Amino acid sequence: MNAISQLGFDVTRIRRDFPILSEKIRGKDLVFLDSGASAQKPVVVMEAMLHAMQHQYANVHRGLHWMSERTTEAYEETRDSIARLLNAADRSEIVFTHNSTEAFNLVAHSFGRGVLKPGQAVVVSEMEHHANLVPWQMLRDAHGVELRIAPITDAGELDMAGLESLLGDGKVGLVSITHMSNVLGTYTPAERIVKLAHAYGAKVMLDGSQAVVHRAVDVQALDVDFYTFTGHKLYGPTGIGALYGKRELLDSMPPFMGGGDMIGSVTYQKSTWAETPHKFEAGTPAILEGIGLNAAIKYVEAIGYPAIAAHETALTEHALARLSSIDGVNLFGRAQDRGGVISFTLDGAHAHDVATLLDRQGIAVRAGHHCAEPLMHRLGVQSTARASFGVYTTLEEIDALADTLVRVREFFQ
Ligand code: ALA
Repeated sequence: MNAISQLGFDVTRIRRDFPILSEKIRGKDLVFLDSGASAQKPVVVMEAMLHAMQHQYANVHRGLHWMSERTTEAYEETRDSIARLLNAADRSEIVFTHNSTEAFNLVAHSFGRGVLKPGQAVVVSEMEHHANLVPWQMLRDAHGVELRIAPITDAGELDMAGLESLLGDGKVGLVSITHMSNVLGTYTPAERIVKLAHAYGAKVMLDGSQAVVHRAVDVQALDVDFYTFTGHKLYGPTGIGALYGKRELLDSMPPFMGGGDMIGSVTYQKSTWAETPHKFEAGTPAILEGIGLNAAIKYVEAIGYPAIAAHETALTEHALARLSSIDGVNLFGRAQDRGGVISFTLDGAHAHDVATLLDRQGIAVRAGHHCAEPLMHRLGVQSTARASFGVYTTLEEIDALADTLVRVREFFQ
């Protein structure tokens, strides 16, 4: 019995829910270690989308006919599921977006230009994905808001003293930080960040794209102001994600995009907006993807976060032990609280070449800057290879990665 089944987590049964995991890559078993980029989908997600297309599909929020009403119910039920997943106080605090990137752009536009004043500042950290950096640069250039960068330590943790020193002048209106780094695997101390930022009068947005995959999130307990995640990393479809925002904040913000579905009434002279959250949801949404996301959330809930988190811990500990024992392999990120995203380089080899040779053995990892170029500069590298885990990942797959890396190293020697 391995460490995973001892945790009561039947990974063999879970894997049967993901048909793609039985695929062969050039005759070899697929070892999929790229879930941090996008996770595989369980059959229940596929079936939910297929069922909607076969039996229950029309546009939402528009028709008075049976099909439209049933589709609207199915789509809107996802908002309830997201509110439950994040423990939001009210379903109106959940805005559908296409992904986390859109959520950052929404907040940068609607909160950034609508609420923040020129001369105020936004703080991000040195370990942000481009999605939580570039929209703020655009805001800085368009609206005169200063952009400040909170440092990380050499271990890859957020430097809390460094963060506090950026807040001291009281100009910071928003601190926007990852809840889990997509490069270092670091979980940031969300509760402490929120308390600190609030003490200096700043709101907080957390990027939960990686974190919500592995750990339960409670936006009320965190008292966080905005929280975002994307569906495709949470075993759901692409093109659907969510922004949580406190109701009074969302109410205070102007819309993001204009068009159908986000209006109250329209004349040539003037338009009025729908209530929160609909005023942020212009145009026909990702209906089928929303329905698929609901199935993914229920799937995750059925497994349960305690088991998912324990599984991630077992995988991460095993991976760190195996990979750190290989001469020439350099691991990035030594945070006390870290999860199943592991970036590494191999002496004398480019990360792309490492990934290509792993791929020849059926092992899928991501290689590159992971949409975090400034972090690569901070780490002193151009790129890394990255293994990332999901509910279906096994200890044996990590062994396959480690054993193959030893052979890849020999190739480069
Ligand atoms: N944000 C995704 C990643 O980290 C694509 O790979």
